[in-house]
Amino acid sequence: PAGTQASGPQAYRAQLLYFRDTPKAEDEACEWIRDGLLVVRDGRIEQCGDYDRLIGDLPPGTPVNDWRGRLITPGFIDTHIHYPQTDMIASPAPGLLPWLETYTFPTERRFENPEYAQDVARFFLDELLRCGTTTALVYCTVHPGSAQAFFEESHARDLRMVAGKVMMDRNCPEYLRDTAESGARDSEDLIRRWHGTGRQMYALTPRFAPTSTPEQLRLCGELAKRYPDVFIQSHVSENRDEVKWVMDLFPGYRSYLDIYDQYGLLRPRSVYGHCVWLDDDDRRRMRDAGAVAAHCPTSNQFLGSGLFDFAAAKDFGMPVALATDVGGGSSFSMLLTMNEAHKVARLSGHYLTARRMFWQATQGAAKHLGLTGRIGTLEPGAEADFIVLDPKATPLLERRSALAESLEELLFALAMLGDDRAIAATYAAGREVHRRG
Ligand code: GUN
Ligand code: ZN
Repeated sequence: PAGTQASGPQAYRAQLLYFRDTPKAEDEACEWIRDGLLVVRDGRIEQCGDYDRLIGDLPPGTPVNDWRGRLITPGFIDTHIHYPQTDMIASPAPGLLPWLETYTFPTERRFENPEYAQDVARFFLDELLRCGTTTALVYCTVHPGSAQAFFEESHARDLRMVAGKVMMDRNCPEYLRDTAESGARDSEDLIRRWHGTGRQMYALTPRFAPTSTPEQLRLCGELAKRYPDVFIQSHVSENRDEVKWVMDLFPGYRSYLDIYDQYGLLRPRSVYGHCVWLDDDDRRRMRDAGAVAAHCPTSNQFLGSGLFDFAAAKDFGMPVALATDVGGGSSFSMLLTMNEAHKVARLSGHYLTARRMFWQATQGAAKHLGLTGRIGTLEPGAEADFIVLDPKATPLLERRSALAESLEELLFALAMLGDDRAIAATYAAGREVHRRG
């Protein structure tokens, strides 16, 4: 990586918040240190605890960055986002399928050009970091060069990112098609080049069942078997018209999800965007397979896709993580995404605490992705991806958070009133990669 590591340790004084890796409810796993010290060395967290306890043991000369009055948490994890849709965010369309036709596909065509891809990848990563997201599961386009450009830019910044070239060989414009064979070959080349290079990881990325032939899904399933530690990402049961279309294209399957299952694409480290119109058998199957639902509330509301059923997910033990789904999603901010997730939960008769949403965006996502202990936590040994949240970022947030009588109230105010402005700084592998103002 181009980024040079600070040679000695660095310390940060602030409130600290993270969730321990326990099977218990996230409330009990919550660690909140009111006057804390975080010590970082060589891109990892070395110590995390009370300022008074740790300050005496700091090696002499260690810089102490004073973030008192702010809250340090692990960097956010966005489990579903499309970097090529950065330039078409906020495009008006009456629903998913017309939105794809009118805006998404023509925009994705531009990624034939690697220079454009590089330019967008740079802006996209800057924007993620401005919003406090340090890891994301990223869709590229069908062009292998779009993934190459993304990984180069992420690797140069030493970010922990998961990405993949989209596979699609039917039901999309000619100019965006691969073939079953070329899609598999290009994906395998990218796995060999990037999976495990520095902090980069690969995700097999069949866009969604209707844009893949059965042969493409079959070859994708073979790759999934040959490379069991890569991720898999796709969309499922987002929109009612989409579900109807899929069931016509794939007769004889029990459900939309069942198609992915039959092709060997449901397993740990597989992440399915939306999961709005699943039934209970699907939810049970997601749980048993260790597959993860990426809940994308701003996108589901923007495109009118439907309300994700949190209560049913909980009843059947389906793993759920949060995601923006830019550019179907209307914001890069995971705080704003929490805000919308909370409202969607209310509308489906459920209640999401702020603690649970912060858990879902950090430790919970890491756990579901098989990355426990590496990201999503401040525990010693973890990679030093963390953010500084500023409860005084806006006049209203300052006024409300000053009256917060509990951690829950403080986190709730940050989730309901916060966005990119609340991210005072972002650190990746121990390096400052964003500072506000
Ligand atoms: N389904 C297939 N492709 C897409 C996409 O790009 N965005 C969303 N939201 N849904 C999809
Ligand atoms: Zn998506």
